[in-house]
Amino acid sequence: MSLPRRGRKYMIAMVGLPARGKTFTARKLTGYLSWLGYATRSFNVGERRRQVLGPGQDHAFFDPANLDANVQREALTDDTLDDAFLWLQQEGRIAIFDATNGTRERRSKIRERCAREDVDLLFVELFEDDPKVIEDNVRETKVSSPDYVGSDTATALRDFRARIAHYESVYRTLTDEDGCFVRIEGRGRTVVIHEVHGWVPGRVVLFLSNLQVTRRPIWLTRHGESEFNQAGRIGGDSPLSPRGLAYARTLAEHVGAQSEDLPDLDVWTSTLQRTLQTAAPVCEAMALESGDWKALDEIDSGVCDGMTYEEIAERHPDEFRARGDDKLRYRYPGGESYQDVIQRLDRVIVELERYRTPVLVVAHRAVLRALYGYFVQLPPERVPHVDMPLHTIIELTPTAYGCRQEWRELAMPEA
Ligand code: SIN
Repeated sequence: MSLPRRGRKYMIAMVGLPARGKTFTARKLTGYLSWLGYATRSFNVGERRRQVLGPGQDHAFFDPANLDANVQREALTDDTLDDAFLWLQQEGRIAIFDATNGTRERRSKIRERCAREDVDLLFVELFEDDPKVIEDNVRETKVSSPDYVGSDTATALRDFRARIAHYESVYRTLTDEDGCFVRIEGRGRTVVIHEVHGWVPGRVVLFLSNLQVTRRPIWLTRHGESEFNQAGRIGGDSPLSPRGLAYARTLAEHVGAQSEDLPDLDVWTSTLQRTLQTAAPVCEAMALESGDWKALDEIDSGVCDGMTYEEIAERHPDEFRARGDDKLRYRYPGGESYQDVIQRLDRVIVELERYRTPVLVVAHRAVLRALYGYFVQLPPERVPHVDMPLHTIIELTPTAYGCRQEWRELAMPEA
């Protein structure tokens, strides 16, 4: 399945008090929608304020009674919104407006502008009233923000709490009058959906309802070397070579050595025997059962399945050339493109985002390129070109504002 190049344009406007995770969510959403193939960009009012005024406004700047500052804040918000609409008038398909948007007046302005510009609007509210969660967020992300460079932690905490109180004094939660919205309460414990229709808003709601902020590793590895790898053939369903079987044992030792830190490990494979054989020793050593996903099967190379690249170049020269010209969109006759693979991996990503426990994914080159591209937010064009060697494990740890990665080639005993 390919995405239509043209279609509706969307404004996703974040709503929420400071320290509710709006910027984290806006970044995750930008990454997810870009990965799915929609030109998406996030526009952050706080960043603009720091660019225009320099960092370091204290809480008084955010006090609704501070009329001069109000004029400045309104102008910064309007200018950021102008940028978002400009992007939508040009190549953008989805703009994410990352600001508090906590008053009815501000939201009416956004709604009217969207109606004028024929852009569909979805509000995303993050609602949190657990003081511990808010305090943790402030400590993790705000104290170290450019706004507090040079301040000690206690001063930064006091100032940020005062900033939140200013926003609280005028904040109004979303109501039916706001039209199309999703409100995520208590980090996903309750999700309220109102007048959400269509494919893109539907994907956004599903993604956000499952998004967790848990710091835990996700491991990606290709299956061990297969007989087809040895022969330079693509696709198929061949078993592991002796080297591939040795990798499966080495992988089990590597994972087993960390088993104390991995109490609830899940192991996911494709339905093809080379991944099942690779995962088997891990599962045996840790007394687990793996879950097999058809969605994790290797890219379907259609009429080229089972051939070497030399054979494809000789028998299907036009196809070989077309693939080289646009590897992301090229679809093998009777098979799939990388874009198709990304579409079918969508539900794997949503599931990985939902999990709070470590997951080991044993899959295939094209599939792992696509999963890796999502986590490190690669532009889709680069996904088909990621180097993804055999016998290597990639540890990805999603963090508040990115993803830590560690690649390790596992040393195998001499044959
Ligand atoms: C900020 O200036 O940091 C945030 C502005 C806003 O979204 O209200």
